[in-house]
Amino acid sequence: MNKKNVAVFVSGSGTNLQSIIDANIESANIAVVLSNKPEAYALERALNHAIPVEVVDHKEYESREAFEAELIERLKNYNIDLIVLAGFMRILTSYFVNNYKHRIINLHPALLPSFPGMHSAKQAIDYGVKFTGVTIHFVDDGVDTGPIIIQSVVPVDDEDTEETLLNKIHAEEHRIFPEAVRLFCEDRLSINGRCVSIK
Ligand code: GAR
Repeated sequence: MNKKNVAVFVSGSGTNLQSIIDANIESANIAVVLSNKPEAYALERALNHAIPVEVVDHKEYESREAFEAELIERLKNYNIDLIVLAGFMRILTSYFVNNYKHRIINLHPALLPSFPGMHSAKQAIDYGVKFTGVTIHFVDDGVDTGPIIIQSVVPVDDEDTEETLLNKIHAEEHRIFPEAVRLFCEDRLSINGRCVSIK
C-alpha cells in the first residue's frame, strides 16, 4: 500500500500526536510535526521517534497570511497528503485551508455543532448537558464547522469538574483520532456537501 504523508500540527503536550504514533497506522507516514510554539512538549515526542520537526512561531509574523505562507513553504519539503490538527491552537484562514482543501482534519473536544471554540468542556458543564464528546472533522474556512468524520459520546456526571471531564474526553480522543487518520489514509472517506461517508 502507498503510504500517505501526514503532517501533524501541534501547540501543546501532544498526547494526541502520541496516540497517532502509537497506533502504527500502516497507511500513514508521519512526515513532519509542526508547532507554532517552540516550547511545545509535542516536539520532544516527535524527536523521540525520529520524526522531523518544524517550528513556525506565529508571534514572529505580522499577519495570519504571512504566518500561513511560511507554513505552506515549510510543508513543500514533505509532499504532504494530509494535515492533522492535533491540539493546534491557531485558526487557519481560507487562504491556508483552500491550499489543502479536504486534506485537513481537526480534533475538537465536544460534540459539534455544540460548544465550538475554546474551553469546550467548561462550556458543556456550565450549560448542564448530560453528554458531550469528541468530534473529528474536515476543516473548512469557518471555526469548527467542517464536515464531520467521526464522533464519540462522553457522559457528563454531576460530580464532574472541567478536569475530570477533560480526562474522559482525552481517553476518547486517543481512541478515535488515529482511527480517522487511518480511514483517510486508506482512501475510505468521501465528502458529499456536509456529509462524510465511510467506505
Ligand atoms: C485536545 O484535547 C484537543 O481536543 C484540543 O486540544 C487538546 C490537545 O491535547 N483541541 C482544541 O481544543 C481545538 N479547538 P494534546 O496536545 O495533548 O494532544
